[in-house]
Amino acid sequence: MINVSVLGASGYGGGELLRLLLFHKKVKVQQVTSRSFAGKRVTVIHPNLRGVTDLHFCTPSELTKCDLLFCALPNGESMHYMDKLMKLSHKIIDTGADFRLKDLHTFESWYGEKHVKSDLLGKFVYGIAELHRTEIKNAKYIACGGCEATVSILSLYPLVKKGLIDLNNIIIDGKMSSSQAGNKPTLSSHHAERSRVVRTYAPLGHRHTAEIEQELSFGNKKAFVSVTATSIEMVRGLLVTIHTKILDGVTEKNIWSAYREIYKNEPFIRIVNETEGIYRYPEPKILEGTNYCDIGFALDSKSKHLVVIGAIDNLGKGTAGQAVQAMNIMCGYPETTGLTFPGLHPV
Ligand SMILES: NC(=O)c1ccc[n+]([C@@H]2O[C@H](COP(=O)([O-])OP(=O)(O)OC[C@H]3O[C@@H](n4cnc5c(N)ncnc54)[C@H](OP(=O)(O)O)[C@@H]3O)[C@@H](O)[C@H]2O)c1
Repeated sequence: MINVSVLGASGYGGGELLRLLLFHKKVKVQQVTSRSFAGKRVTVIHPNLRGVTDLHFCTPSELTKCDLLFCALPNGESMHYMDKLMKLSHKIIDTGADFRLKDLHTFESWYGEKHVKSDLLGKFVYGIAELHRTEIKNAKYIACGGCEATVSILSLYPLVKKGLIDLNNIIIDGKMSSSQAGNKPTLSSHHAERSRVVRTYAPLGHRHTAEIEQELSFGNKKAFVSVTATSIEMVRGLLVTIHTKILDGVTEKNIWSAYREIYKNEPFIRIVNETEGIYRYPEPKILEGTNYCDIGFALDSKSKHLVVIGAIDNLGKGTAGQAVQAMNIMCGYPETTGLTFPGLHPV
């Protein structure tokens, strides 16, 4: 049994972490922070936890030592806390972007700000278990992938690893939900502006481009991706439709084999390609609350055009589920502990 605390627990990612951790049989939740709601019951903000916990929020300065600390702050915040957090816990899992990128220049050019703890960039392991399980096992510090990056990386990884696609020709089209933006209100999240949108807010240059390229480049084989992000009418969930070209000689069988071989023992990856029913390709709606990443594809062999479709719950495999999976690996618990919820249907 370990004692864990969550910094930034009143947010959407922090709330989902809390939901998972409170039902995790190897974990006791010690403290949860919110500056705005300090002293108040967590159920004021997370009403789904009524009757499950009597925890109250505290301020970040009230945090005491614990076995593992989750950090779920907006991007650009955790680096300012890291010195203090490292004194409070030997294990830290950060869901934000501050320590995902290994290269300082890449971070500063994509995030447009100076990194105040750049000496720690190399000390964090990128949190996607399917790519970094062994490093996570021995890690003290984890930087979980961004949600759009996570689903894109998982959808493409076997194809890139096996050298099946043109690394200069990868176009990722993401359909985004409102919870991805966090719970701080802005003009674009205001109901009148957000409701019923199909709004492309980043035709090019989405920040997750950098981490996708980092994770899909191996040695001198560099991947270049182009990411488009469009907000749609969805509260949680994320779908990517990826357009790419297969290399000469590659067949549909090679693609199947790559996914099967690389993901055959992965508990949270499902290859979805049904010939019947209405859910024939991945669909975020039925992944709500789960830690699954569903992946499907369709190939036009004549034109060599390959479409890969990936879906996750942005707050599940895209954040909190990924973080709990990493915690399980770091602590030597069975990797699926606390993460086996299969989702709802209909929903
Ligand atoms: N939402 C998603 O789908 C998603 C997916 C993948 C990754 N992530 C990453 O996860 C992180 C959290 O995202 P989120 O959507 O959960 O954000 P959020 O809903 O805005 O929540 C942020 C939390 O951090 C606290 N906070 C904000 N500024 C703080 C500061 N300076 N010091 C201490 N606490 C502070 C907030 O509470 P108080 O202001 O009351 O203290 C709140 O509890 C982000 O870095 C994001 O990139 C999010």
